[in-house]
Amino acid sequence: MFSGHAWRVVKFGEPKDAVELHELTWGEPSPGQVLIRVRTAGAGFPDAMMTAGHFPLLGEPPFGLGEEAAGEVVAVPPGSRFAIGDQVAGITGFLEGWGGYAEYAYVREGSAIRIPAGMTDEQAGGFPIGFRTAYAGLVERAPVEAGQTLLILGAAGSSGVAALQLGKALGTTVIAVAGSQEKLEFCARYGADHVVNYRTDDLTARITEITEGCGVDLIYDPIGGDTAATAVKSIARNGRIAVIGLASGSALSLDSMDMLLRNYTAVGVLASPNDDPETEAAVWDHLVSLAKHGAITTPVGRVYGFDEVPRMVAEQTAPGAGKSVVRVASK
Ligand SMILES: NC(=O)c1ccc[n+]([C@@H]2O[C@H](COP(=O)([O-])OP(=O)(O)OC[C@H]3O[C@@H](n4cnc5c(N)ncnc54)[C@H](OP(=O)(O)O)[C@@H]3O)[C@@H](O)[C@H]2O)c1
Repeated sequence: MFSGHAWRVVKFGEPKDAVELHELTWGEPSPGQVLIRVRTAGAGFPDAMMTAGHFPLLGEPPFGLGEEAAGEVVAVPPGSRFAIGDQVAGITGFLEGWGGYAEYAYVREGSAIRIPAGMTDEQAGGFPIGFRTAYAGLVERAPVEAGQTLLILGAAGSSGVAALQLGKALGTTVIAVAGSQEKLEFCARYGADHVVNYRTDDLTARITEITEGCGVDLIYDPIGGDTAATAVKSIARNGRIAVIGLASGSALSLDSMDMLLRNYTAVGVLASPNDDPETEAAVWDHLVSLAKHGAITTPVGRVYGFDEVPRMVAEQTAPGAGKSVVRVASK
């Protein structure tokens, strides 16, 4: 049995009222999980959705927050491929109420990676969700090919910049869309071929100019709302939109007659694990290999202390560039 503190949503509402630090005990992990002592945990817009009661996969509070974490394995079930003392990162048991903003966290064994040499704690804690989602979108659900044009909305956000890097690693031409000059420069640093400010530029005109009137082959859309609706006008014939999320606050509405007339496809993407463990393990091996070769890296943004979790959650509705991370323990 392990005892420690964990940030939990105790009611839906404003983070300062809804998220509380509680003492908890963690029992032995069930088959399919390992228990880690957490050093870092990755943050994102879903934390704000969960706290507000807008996250579709979670029921009523109380539940733990934090979808991903990194640290040292302290307990494993019989037959685990991990051992006590291993340094791992992975997706937590947040869907079962056990999150990563906690001194200990259950991590799904199928999503757990051994932290490669050279990956910092902050990079490790923020690695799993963004890159697993990008892989689901760009490889599994709406595969892109080298030479195709990929438009990424919310490209400086944690989902977007992961897709930006994976898209470049897959050989696509990336057009990154973000809302400030600082974020455009951030996207360019992570490899974007073209950048567009959706607040100040005419998105449709810029995409026409960049693609010489051809449109884009795939839109990666963690944003929804009006921005995505505008971007859809620039899908090439036989193109696709990968629906990832709704950071704008509203879902994308699609016109089925427009889809028919312009021959495009919408693909829903949920970064859930493959049923076959070997297929899922191959996904993580591929991502770790890309990280080891420097093709992808967690774009660590703001790092928050463990005592700052309610403020961190509040700030996820208007985050800075990159992946916010919580430092839970120094070692
Ligand atoms: N499908 C899945 O499996 C999966 C997995 C992970 C996350 N998600 C979803 O993906 C979404 C994004 O999550 P995240 O963690 O990447 O969020 P994030 O890091 O907060 O990034 C969201 C980005 O959206 C931009 N944005 C906000 N409103 C916008 C608007 N109206 N038009 C254009 N851009 C806008 C923001 O930057 P600027 O506006 O300043 O550029 C911000 O950089 C969430 O809905 C989350 O639930 C889905």
